[in-house]
Amino acid sequence: MEKKEAWKRELIQSALDARKRAYVPYSGFSVGAALLAASGKIYQGCNVENASFGVTNCAERTAFFKAVSEGEREFKAIAITGGKVLSKPSDFAYPCGVCRQVMQEFCDGDFAVLVAKSAEEYKEYTLLQLLPHGFGGEKLL
Ligand code: THU
Repeated sequence: MEKKEAWKRELIQSALDARKRAYVPYSGFSVGAALLAASGKIYQGCNVENASFGVTNCAERTAFFKAVSEGEREFKAIAITGGKVLSKPSDFAYPCGVCRQVMQEFCDGDFAVLVAKSAEEYKEYTLLQLLPHGFGGEKLL
């Protein structure tokens, strides 16, 4: 594992804290995310489930939509952590395809995605690694 940088530990800790606020009465799987904007601000997100299951919002999209609705448009990194509610993550929680597509909308290929079991144990990817050949708005211009 690479040498840990302080900002990554801080971002992961923020995702671990956000996970505690997940609303997951149906799956019992809580996810936390912390999104670092180019401004330096961190936006937290958790998954918010719904009795109409398809209405559920993932933690990552909660963080992105909070940030974009506050005026942010450029992002550096996101930390993600998840697992069975009230337990420490037993595995790495990777972003779903829909969330990867939302990242594609606002981020460059070098956007960093940290999937973490704890502040000490994490893996790092670029968005390009997680979503190669992604569909972006430039195709529509
Ligand atoms: N979930 C996320 O929050 N992020 C993902 O990238 C994958 C899935 C949530 C949605 C749902 O509340 C629970 O995990 C189980 O699918």
